[in-house]
Order: sequence, then C-alpha cells, then structure tokens
Amino acid sequence: MRSRRALLYMPGDDLHKIQKAATLGVDCICMDLEDGVALNRKAEARLSIRQALGTLDFGPAEKLVRINPVGSGLENDDLWSVLPSHPDGIVIPKVTDGESLRWVGEQIAVVEREQGWPVGSIGMIPLVETARGIVNLVSIAAATMRLQALIFGADDLMGDIGGMRTREGMEVFYARSAVVTYAAAFNLQAIDQVFIDIKDIEMLRKEALQGAQMGFSGKQIIHPSQVAPVQEAYTPSEQAVDYARRVVEADAKHQEMGVGAFVLDGKMIDAPTVKAAERILARARAAGKI
Ligand code: COA
Ligand code: MG
Repeated sequence: MRSRRALLYMPGDDLHKIQKAATLGVDCICMDLEDGVALNRKAEARLSIRQALGTLDFGPAEKLVRINPVGSGLENDDLWSVLPSHPDGIVIPKVTDGESLRWVGEQIAVVEREQGWPVGSIGMIPLVETARGIVNLVSIAAATMRLQALIFGADDLMGDIGGMRTREGMEVFYARSAVVTYAAAFNLQAIDQVFIDIKDIEMLRKEALQGAQMGFSGKQIIHPSQVAPVQEAYTPSEQAVDYARRVVEADAKHQEMGVGAFVLDGKMIDAPTVKAAERILARARAAGKI
C-alpha cells in the first residue's frame, strides 16, 4: 500500500511551486494541467511539467499529472506531452463513466510499449466530481486495473448539481460517502475533498480527521500550510498503533485457543475490530511509522 495522506496540487505552469512541492515531504505531488492553469497557458504548463519530471528529484513523493477532461479537446496533447517523462500516475478530472478511463488506459499502454516500460507501470486516479460520475461509480471503479484510488471533488460536484457548498458539508455527504464506499468495494484508496480556506487550519484539521474516520486514505490539498495538519490527521497516532498491535496479538492468542470474541480493556473484540486494527497497522507502515 502506498501512503496517499495528502495530494498537493499546483499549477503546472508554475515551476517554482513544483520545485517547492518537492521539498515539503508531501506524499503525492499533482502537477495540474486543468483548472489551475489558464487556457492560454496550457502549452507552457505541459513544457514545465516535462521539465520537472525530467530534472527534479521528487524523493519518495508520488509524481502525478492532472490532465484536462476526456472530451475537452486538450486531453490528447496533455497525455502525449507528459507520458514520455513517466509520471507515476495520471489524474483524470470530471470522469463520468468507465469508458473514458479505458481510453486513457489505452493511450498509456501505447507509450509504455513504445518506451519498453512494463505495461501497468503508470497508474490512473479518476476524480469523481459530477452527478454522472456519482451514479456511475461501479463503471468507474471497475474500469481498469490501473486504478489505484478514487478522488472525490466536492466543489465541481456542487457546480454540476446546482447546490451550494457550506462549512458543514451536508450537501455533499451522500456523494462523499458513496465515493469512499465504492472505492473500498473495489479495493481502491479514496482521497477526500479540498478545503479551500487556506487560512483556517483548525477547520482543515477537523475535516481531515472526519475524512480519516469515514475511511478515506487522504485528502487533496492546495497550499504548503495544509501538508502537516492533513498528513498528521491521516497518520495513526502512537497510541492507536500500540492498541492495534495489542488487539492483533490478543486475537492471535485467542484464535489459537479457539475463541473468536473476547474482552480487551473492557471492550469486546471480534473479527471487525481486528480487521480495523490491521488496517491501522498497514497505514502506519505505509506512512513509515512502523
Ligand atoms: N504548491 C507548492 N507551493 C506552493 C503552493 C502549492 N500549491 N501554493 C503556494 N506555494 C508556495 C508559494 O509559491 C510561496 O513560495 P515562496 O515562499 O517560495 O515564494 C509559498 O508557498 C507561500 O505561498 P502564498 O504566498 O501563501 O500563496 P500564493 O498567494 O503564492 O498562492 C494559491 C495561493 C491558492 C494561488 C496557491 O496556493 C495555489 O496555486 N494553490 C494550488 C491551486 C491549484 O492547483 N488549483 C487546482 C487544483 S484544486
Ligand atoms: Mg475541479
């Protein structure tokens, strides 16, 4: 499992921000070609992303590129200019069904074969942020073996539905829950909505903790000040790791004795609690905490 606690976007035509991102210790760096880049700067952005992929040391961070939506007319040039520099994955926005994802997968496969790279070495992460995307979640999640995660986009979804974003977020709660649930059903990670108020770190922290409690693996972010609070919220605490270890160990002992349910620290432990503990350990391991 790869740690994707925070996925930081920056406009692809801003080489300074890309360079800066590589120094922040953030799990995923997503160089944007879509809405963060003005229409008359797309070509510039493709060039600086190529330059960054070819020359920058990203360390252990995942190198992602967000292309323009399939059907926008920009997607071909986006893909063909960045794929030869081998990003780790392509983020596809405003995905409405599995078919467009399969098309992207085919383009990637062509470049992989041309370059002699293993087929499947470049991943794909769709952004589900339209009403159609939500109702077609099965077709999206099952589209291709290249998928590693689903991203939930709240702001675009509200634009599409005609609703209004609020701080409490009840207007997107159904869709947000749907994305994390369908992701789990297809063994994918899920990455939560952006919090756009870059000055309000306390609310960001709350929303990140809520996402972690819902089962998301991480959150999209847009500013360096959001890296630490979000990655912290998505890293199991030492206490949680200790407890998870004790649960797993106690369960192993009880299983040997033929006991499935038992009490630890006054609480009943059985299969779902053990599974949750194993997940916490896997997350801590992915984040390099074990
Ligand atoms: N990634 C990397 N570095 C970033 C960054 C980002 N997303 N956002 C800001 N920085 C850098 C700035 O370049 C600046 O660096 P410096 O101190 O070396 O000059 C520093 O962090 C402080 O930035 P600040 O002045 O607070 O922000 P700003 O006014 O330059 O930028 C935004 C504000 C919102 C425009 C910027 O954060 C941004 O571009 N975010 C991402 C937008 C995006 O990609 N949207 C599409 C996806 S939702
Ligand atoms: Mg968007």
